[in-house]
Amino acid sequence: MEQKFVIIGGKSFEGEIKVKGAKNAALKIFPVALMTQEPIRVSNMPEIEDCQRAQEMLEALGHEIKKVKPGVVDIRYKSKRCVNLPAELVNKFRASIMFVGPLLATCGEVYFPHPGGCVIGAGTRPIDMFLGGFEKMGAKVEISENHYRLSAKKLKGAQIFFHKVTVTGTESLMTTACLAEGVTILKNCAMEPEIPALADFLNSIGAKIEGAGTPTIKITGVKKLEGGEYKIIPDRIEAGTFAMMAAAANSGHTLIKDCNPEHLEALWVLFDKIGVNYKLGKDNISIFPSKKLISCDATTHEYPGFATDLQSAYTVLMTQTKGASLIHETIYDRRLLFTDMLTQMGANIIMADPHRVVVNGPTKLYGRKLVSPDLRAGMALVMAALIAQGKTEINNIYQIERGYEKLDERMCALGADIKKINN
Ligand code: EPU
Repeated sequence: MEQKFVIIGGKSFEGEIKVKGAKNAALKIFPVALMTQEPIRVSNMPEIEDCQRAQEMLEALGHEIKKVKPGVVDIRYKSKRCVNLPAELVNKFRASIMFVGPLLATCGEVYFPHPGGCVIGAGTRPIDMFLGGFEKMGAKVEISENHYRLSAKKLKGAQIFFHKVTVTGTESLMTTACLAEGVTILKNCAMEPEIPALADFLNSIGAKIEGAGTPTIKITGVKKLEGGEYKIIPDRIEAGTFAMMAAAANSGHTLIKDCNPEHLEALWVLFDKIGVNYKLGKDNISIFPSKKLISCDATTHEYPGFATDLQSAYTVLMTQTKGASLIHETIYDRRLLFTDMLTQMGANIIMADPHRVVVNGPTKLYGRKLVSPDLRAGMALVMAALIAQGKTEINNIYQIERGYEKLDERMCALGADIKKINN
């Protein structure tokens, strides 16, 4: 049943909130289970829609998943692997592409439609670098309409240069190369923290990966991988978003726990310029009320730069700061379109082109009826609704719950008035 959030804004926002495991780390771990017949335990798993879809995918491909307790699952190989990725699941999340390489490496072939996910890039988000990488490793790639068939008797190590930095592309080829024959060198790799985390897990079950977290990764293929346990790293996007929410609400002390502030250095530089009153601990962030918040330009960049996934929340924060700020979204060309909804709520935002907006602040925001266009924009609308005057309704909340666990309950614990209602 479709559900919506109904939010009464303007309440105080303070207290403690725990950060969950990282969605974009969790989604890359499940496909690894296809590369071993030994059991794998995953802990600190966020209970979100995308992780649910990834588990359904594993089950459809011949694995058994048992929930041990909240946030902990055991994955076991059950029956012969299916090499068809189910279209209804592939359509739901882009990271489904992570299942392709492991199946190719273990079964010699795989069929799948073009992956879905957030509509934030022009047309469908391309997968050319994945296909090019698999081809270099010796796979035959056949494309008919929207479907792909990849086949290879044996994958071989290769030298691959990514013409554009790609997070999932790096993770996919790094994972697949673990079972290829010989050495693979990946160059111009993404460096997001989820990548060394994935490499650490793969190494703990028998892989030989060096250099993850730097632009060049060397993978020496091994014959087989073992079973093991993986604790998902904290979600840096959740942590950064909660920090910006607290800064925008500017109403009390908010303690964001169980996170890694080192993964958000680019945000802290911006906070210093804006004048946010904050303190970082080893695994927590405190946000205190600030005297004066000043607008500051921001440009998204691959890690360790300012993450595109934080841009929408940052844009909302800029509606509450004094002066003009230019937000430059460099990674995706549809990620600023949601600012139209902020304008409807009373923000003063001028779109220069699809990649740049100028936000003039501070402005009061007012509750409206809205539809969540995608995960991060949807979360930014929740943030705007929390600081707006009056009632906001946000529809299509599947596009928020894909990435944020029990958001309504967790926000209410901080003093927000947010209810999930059946439509
Ligand atoms: N690209 C290509 N060809 C490819 C692959 C990517 O042209 O074969 C382009 C994309 O269209 C984009 C750019 O390269 O313009 C970067 O995309 P990337 O491949 O790095 O993105 P991704 O791996 O699909 C991950 C996260 C995104 C996050 C980006 C950038 C996952 C599951 N998704 O996407 O997260 O925005 O990296 O950091 O890890 C989100 O969580 O809301 C989200 C969208």
